[in-house]
Amino acid sequence: PEVALKSGNARPMPAVGMGTASFPLDPEATKGAVLAAIEVGYRHFDTAYMYGTETPLGEAVAEAVRRGLVASREEVFVTSKLWCTQNHPDLVLPSLRETLKNLQMEYVDLYLIHWPVALKPGPISFPAKKEDAVPLDVEGVWRAMEECQRLGLAKAIGVSNFTTKHLDKVLAVATIPPAVNQVELNPLWQQRTLRTYCAEKGIHVAAYSPLGGQNWDGSGNAVLGSEVLAGVAKARGKTVAQVALRWIYEQGVTPIVKSYNKERLKQNLEIFDWELTDEDHQKISKIPQLKIIKGHGLFSQEGEFTSVDPADLNIV
Ligand code: A2P
Repeated sequence: PEVALKSGNARPMPAVGMGTASFPLDPEATKGAVLAAIEVGYRHFDTAYMYGTETPLGEAVAEAVRRGLVASREEVFVTSKLWCTQNHPDLVLPSLRETLKNLQMEYVDLYLIHWPVALKPGPISFPAKKEDAVPLDVEGVWRAMEECQRLGLAKAIGVSNFTTKHLDKVLAVATIPPAVNQVELNPLWQQRTLRTYCAEKGIHVAAYSPLGGQNWDGSGNAVLGSEVLAGVAKARGKTVAQVALRWIYEQGVTPIVKSYNKERLKQNLEIFDWELTDEDHQKISKIPQLKIIKGHGLFSQEGEFTSVDPADLNIV
């Protein structure tokens, strides 16, 4: 299955994407995993300038074309993102050109503003420091994003980690509305307020950390460890990961799931020939909400650049 985006000229977006954010960076592992993913049927890949995985992703796609796994680059949907240090009107186009060079591609299918945060131009330093934050020129940056689409270097443009308030600001100045908002979303962080808003505005939602993320702090994975999801998985004869991904898909949201393991990559695509019951939905809708990616500094739940819609904090 695929989703037609409501703005831009991108081909329809395949309903599950493969994420490539993984730390520490291991380009060979990324390249191998993308090739394995193409072999098992993935045609949608997500990267970002900040992840450092544009180059291995591009190499893998080029190799897949050489090996005849896909007929051409056009067969894959590729998303990349403008990092906060590039979030300045005059840096958008050069940054996309650099991204395209890394990817060895003529265009990305989708180019996103990574965070509603601008940092002083310069090398990536993470966690970001508060003194490096500067006011974000939403109008200027969005105009430059629109120019990227007009030039055909991005087939569609969008945002990531934007709340309804941030989206209001973009929509107020947009000639081309954002096609996508990619945010943290899973059964433990359902983002109902944001989803309703995006549905009304025709903005497609994509979900990162659909399985609860990569355990940055070693505290265990609340999605994969959820007892409610385990109960549903048992009843359906599926894994917890598949239940989480299917639930996201049934909300009309596109999961971007990261696995570098071929079996799990395959498993994560097997969510289209069965469905959740009304009772399953009832149970999942009552799961207490927990934002899993706490972020650092500027990107935290509490900070002034928060990506949390307050109404979503307590939806039980
Ligand atoms: P791995 O790469 O070893 O498969 P998210 O996509 O939410 O960021 O979560 C990805 C994490 O979940 C990764 O650490 C990934 O590890 C793991 N993972 C991916 N698919 C599955 C699955 N089907 N079952 C269990 N863990 C999975």
